[in-house]
Amino acid sequence: MSDRLYVGIDLGTYQSTIASSAGKMHTIETVVGRPKDPVARNFLGRDVLFGDDALKNKLACNLYRPMAAGVTQDDEANLAAAKAFVSHLLETVDPEEFDEVLGVICSPSHVSFTDKSNLVATLRGQVNAIMVVTEPFATAYGIDEIAGSIVVDIGAGTTDIARVYGTFPTDEDQVTITEAGDWLDLELMTLIRKKYTGAQVTKDMVRKWKEASSYVGGDVREVTVELSVDGKRQVVDIGDLIQEACELIIPKIGNAIKRNVAGADPEYQPILRNNIILSGGGSLIDGCAERIASEISDIGDVRVWCVEDPINSVAAGALKLASEMPDDMYTSIN
Ligand SMILES: Nc1ncnc2c1ncn2[C@@H]1O[C@H](COP(=O)(O)OP(=O)(O)OP(=O)(O)O)[C@@H](O)[C@H]1O
Ligand SMILES: [Mg+2]
Repeated sequence: MSDRLYVGIDLGTYQSTIASSAGKMHTIETVVGRPKDPVARNFLGRDVLFGDDALKNKLACNLYRPMAAGVTQDDEANLAAAKAFVSHLLETVDPEEFDEVLGVICSPSHVSFTDKSNLVATLRGQVNAIMVVTEPFATAYGIDEIAGSIVVDIGAGTTDIARVYGTFPTDEDQVTITEAGDWLDLELMTLIRKKYTGAQVTKDMVRKWKEASSYVGGDVREVTVELSVDGKRQVVDIGDLIQEACELIIPKIGNAIKRNVAGADPEYQPILRNNIILSGGGSLIDGCAERIASEISDIGDVRVWCVEDPINSVAAGALKLASEMPDDMYTSIN
């Protein structure tokens, strides 16, 4: 039996996934809770809470989203939260049963892990050696599409678009825009508040409605939700607003894909145009591949399709890289 464990880790703005060579895979919301005071500490019976557990007890906790946009990763509390979170994520795959853990890590592109030193600090003592890759590349590698593709990872914090043509992409191969899931939630929240004056909605409520019913293209669908308007319960149809908000992101993504294609070697452009792959939670917007294809159809024949398992594709690809790359690709962090 091998005494080496390989892990693929997708540290996400909103949720994180770990996949291990021992066949385990877990996704946890990237949120950490610390009890607010000694009363909360006694009541909860623990010093730190993660994911769903933290959210369920959010009124008794200070919540940290250490990978969210705008969070400084140098800030002590967030750095500690990130470290605790990564330890917890790793514990779910039982690393103590192995002598050595080698990990391929993807972290959000907006996170300012300056020269990766904070990322290394976060992982030190838990992983022996790491390799850091981008989300689109990990996805492409995992589904055997590195020969010629454009991968569009529509996450929560950013949409990352990368040309992949047989080797590790460079910074020039990638375009990142801040229009992604979180941005869409804010747009939808604005539309709801505008139409239903006095509506009391939170970002979490809006995100859940979006996840349950997102779509673009076609006829307006009915989506009834319950909300409070000035404290009074109301049932309203937000189907038109969901479509309107989701439609807003299409030209943003379309333009970024066009920029990414235009920057490629002209001989490769037809291949790339014909293999545009959508991943990340945002690719679950019903109808998005067709809408994006029509949005960019002015650049020639295009084929746009969605990965099968958009939430796990980054971690699965990172794991595949982890076990297939030679040891000298890793940086030892002991
Ligand atoms: N059915 C759905 N329709 C639209 N959006 C969805 C759906 N399901 C999930 N999402 C959105 O996808 C986003 C999460 O996707 P993902 O897990 O790829 O992001 P992340 O990796 O945490 O973020 P990032 O890659 O930016 O760091 C959230 O904004 C979530 O609301
Ligand atoms: Mg992601």
